[in-house]
Amino acid sequence: MKGDLVFMLFYFLFFVSFLREARAAELVEDNINNNQKNNTGVYIVYMGAADSTNGSLRNDHAHILISVLKRNQSALLHNYKHGFSGFAARLTEEDALSIAQKPGVVSVFPDPIIKLHTTRSWDFLKYQTSIKIDSKPNNSSTSSDDTVIGILDTGIWPESASFTDLDMGPIPKRWKGTCMKAQDFTPSNCNRKLIGARFYNDPEDESSEFLTPRDIIGHGTHVASTAAGSTVVGASYYGLAEGTAKGGSPGSRIAMYRVCTPFGCRGSAILSAFDDAIADGVDVLSLSLGSPAAFKPELTEDPIAIGSFHAVENGIIVVCSAGNDGPSSKTVANVAPWILTVAATTIDRDFQSNVVLGGNTVIKGEGINFSPLKQSPVYPLINAQSAVQANGDSVAARKCQLDSLDKDKVKGKIVICDSTSYSDSVEDKIEAVKNVEGLGVIAIDDLIRAVASTYGDFPATVISSKDADKILLYVNSTSEPVATILPTVTMTEYKPAPAIAYFSSRGPSYISRNIIKPDIAAPGVEILAAWMGNDTSQAPKGKDPPLFNVISGTSMSCPHVSGVAASVKSQNPTWSPSAIKSAIMTTAIQKNNLKAPITTDSGSIATPYDYGAGEMTTSGPLQPGLVYETSTTDYLNYLCYIGFNISTIKIISKTIPEGFVCPQDSSSDNITDINYPSIAISKFEGKNTKNVTRTVTNVAGDDAVYTAIVDTPSEVTVNVIPDKLQFTTNSQKQSYQVIFSLTATSLKEDLFGSITWTNGRYSVRSPFVLSSKSNV
Ligand SMILES: *[C@@H]1O[C@H](CO)[C@@H](O)[C@H](O)[C@H]1NC(C)=O
Ligand SMILES: *[C@@H]1O[C@H](CO)[C@@H](O)[C@H](O)[C@H]1NC(C)=O
Ligand SMILES: *[C@@H]1O[C@H](CO)[C@@H](O)[C@H](O)[C@H]1NC(C)=O
Ligand SMILES: *[C@@H]1O[C@H](CO)[C@@H](O)[C@H](O)[C@H]1NC(C)=O
Ligand SMILES: *[C@@H]1O[C@H](CO)[C@@H](O)[C@H](O)[C@H]1NC(C)=O
Ligand SMILES: *[C@@H]1O[C@H](CO)[C@@H](O)[C@H](O)[C@H]1NC(C)=O
Ligand SMILES: *[C@@H]1O[C@H](CO)[C@@H](O)[C@H](O)[C@H]1NC(C)=O
Ligand SMILES: *[C@@H]1O[C@H](CO)[C@@H](O)[C@H](O)[C@H]1NC(C)=O
Ligand SMILES: *[C@@H]1O[C@H](CO)[C@@H](O)[C@H](O)[C@H]1NC(C)=O
Ligand SMILES: *[C@@H]1O[C@H](CO)[C@@H](O)[C@H](O)[C@H]1NC(C)=O
Repeated sequence: MKGDLVFMLFYFLFFVSFLREARAAELVEDNINNNQKNNTGVYIVYMGAADSTNGSLRNDHAHILISVLKRNQSALLHNYKHGFSGFAARLTEEDALSIAQKPGVVSVFPDPIIKLHTTRSWDFLKYQTSIKIDSKPNNSSTSSDDTVIGILDTGIWPESASFTDLDMGPIPKRWKGTCMKAQDFTPSNCNRKLIGARFYNDPEDESSEFLTPRDIIGHGTHVASTAAGSTVVGASYYGLAEGTAKGGSPGSRIAMYRVCTPFGCRGSAILSAFDDAIADGVDVLSLSLGSPAAFKPELTEDPIAIGSFHAVENGIIVVCSAGNDGPSSKTVANVAPWILTVAATTIDRDFQSNVVLGGNTVIKGEGINFSPLKQSPVYPLINAQSAVQANGDSVAARKCQLDSLDKDKVKGKIVICDSTSYSDSVEDKIEAVKNVEGLGVIAIDDLIRAVASTYGDFPATVISSKDADKILLYVNSTSEPVATILPTVTMTEYKPAPAIAYFSSRGPSYISRNIIKPDIAAPGVEILAAWMGNDTSQAPKGKDPPLFNVISGTSMSCPHVSGVAASVKSQNPTWSPSAIKSAIMTTAIQKNNLKAPITTDSGSIATPYDYGAGEMTTSGPLQPGLVYETSTTDYLNYLCYIGFNISTIKIISKTIPEGFVCPQDSSSDNITDINYPSIAISKFEGKNTKNVTRTVTNVAGDDAVYTAIVDTPSEVTVNVIPDKLQFTTNSQKQSYQVIFSLTATSLKEDLFGSITWTNGRYSVRSPFVLSSKSNV
């Protein structure tokens, strides 16, 4: 059952069209096709800020709710009132349209399905190593005791060793969260580490296995232990990636909000979780999920953008994954400027399962398997193309598609399978080859090769197309080609690392080219972290279920950043979400372990569209020197710039400054001007000059003089005025202008550079992007 659920989940995410028979798939297809229209009859009514005076409903909220309940007592599914106002209910289309016209309503939209950001295919979603956080602040387990990381995900497996509370002090008094009771979960499953656990009904599926905070998928357990898992010595996936597992902020508390089922994550549940988390008192929110790249929701119809706006207004930093829809450009999700958006990179570990050919030539392969084959090449080898069935489709056979191979030709052999598209998973090839009693699979795929998947006992590995030529040449050169596939060994200090994971979603943002997204990158490939305790589908034959698992995705990179954000917060409890975000971004690095620029999967030098400010470090954000604070006014100006009017903005924000009005001549061009830790300019062409202002705040506590260093491509001149900033007190703010002038006559492609303020001790770096394209 469990295995089936996992199967459906990942197919839901990425292979929806192949599952027409399954009820799950129908549901999912309906929802995807009608997502922005009228799928289930459940609508979210978003009404902006909550009552700021006391905990009661806003009058307009109460009135609309009463009118809905009058019609049907059981129509209401969620009521939002702590962090913001609104509700989710089953409505007719007419009622939804009529409510949308009422005063105080910002938006009414069908409840969307949001997806987990594991890998782009379940093919990549497998094995793992210890969490790669390079250094920890000293004594973090005492200093970060009072930081709570809230996680919206698939639930948690509370018995995991990663959630023991041995060294934890008492739960902070201010904590108002709860541990909900369910059939397989009681409040006693919570402790001083796991201090909150809630779940939300899916109106489309009330199965009891979903009415619990317990994780039956593994994803939430994995993410939670990456963010704040306790130290576990000797963690491994059946001996692979052995080491000490611990979260980014092992001293922080965890509160799990289960919003996802195997069918996806309901927008209405996500909003309920935000509403609760704000009232419960979390400090950091971590969301490894988002809308599929193709949806591109408006901000007012995006539950994550809405919920995170109010969380940030309440002092909570919100960290979200960028998505796994790369490497195509303009695929990044969770692009609102108040979100810290995380891309994924590789780490310096490699899971090698090599191929040995007759004559003992070794070909490098990547994959996680526990191959029972002999170490010497004694098994017959065949190119799948030559195993096509009589009158069969030779292209299908070449790729080892189901029912394309001739059993007489494949039986007892290792099969070489080509792969040229994402929709052909290695698992599918394995199934096709197993069906005709083949012995092993050597798959050819340059992208998949970079992200090892788990194939259990079956000898399977992925090789590069370059190496494939060698093998095919060998097969052609002899009448009886032989080979073997070796079981996986973990290689460390792999170089170059980090590199951008090919699946990581890329910028620019679909909402605006005037803010760089993603913001930051962190490890998201082959990450070892805790797993649910009864997942036999991940166990090799005869072994107990794994306690840790190795999986990949921006889902895995997000909690690395959430953990560091919690560490920064615990050392600097008064810092705003934007100060913490700035600290993480301005201290990022852009070099790999060969001291060369970080590259993408294709080998090109990574740009801010791939990794924002660069790869996060764990020590830099604790002492950034200066920070860029993005104020509420900046965010409200942003809403003006993207076209909201003042009446709507007044409904949305509860912290709106006295007398706030939208700036005259507001246009999307002005988004560049909000005080963000990076700079992006669109419509930059001809003899253009653009003047951008930024303000930095001294957080190093003492006298300091900073000097600007500019790294710019030759097509532009960049002047920073002034080019020295002097600070005499802590919290002091200083502003500067940056004047960009194009020296070339036109800008053929987007240009990238950076501005770094340094005082010898701290370096505070902001990347910039200049584009001739229009804003959106
Ligand atoms: C694992 O445990 C959960 C919760 O008790 C249960 O729903 C699920 O069916 C179990 N899975 C397996 C494979 O036993
Ligand atoms: C809503 O669903 C009904 C029934 O499935 C369909 O007839 C109607 O066209 C849908 N409306 C929209 C806006 O999709
Ligand atoms: C809260 O506000 C509502 C309406 O603004 C008011 O009716 C109610 O008396 C207030 N409650 C308290 C406890 O102040
Ligand atoms: C009220 O809502 C419930 C749940 O959506 C639905 O099953 C029921 O048919 C509705 N009743 C009426 C009278 O519309
Ligand atoms: C942590 O403490 C150890 C020993 O006290 C010291 O060597 C190390 O530099 C410290 N690390 C940091 C990040 O402060
Ligand atoms: C860490 O904690 C130990 C014991 O509580 C203490 O002696 C030491 O000074 C602390 N180190 C730092 C850097 O705070
Ligand atoms: C191997 O032989 C096949 C069939 O004769 C041919 O299509 C293919 O190009 C050859 N491959 C190599 C690498 O020589
Ligand atoms: C503000 O915008 C909303 C939504 O677009 C619209 O309904 C409303 O009439 C506008 N208000 C004013 C004063 O322009
Ligand atoms: C918005 O940008 C335009 C063009 O750069 C500029 O003329 C205008 O003054 C800006 N408006 C604000 C409010 O900054
Ligand atoms: C850039 O803009 C700032 C603020 O609008 C202004 O004070 C400054 O004079 C401008 N600098 C130049 C060179 O235009």
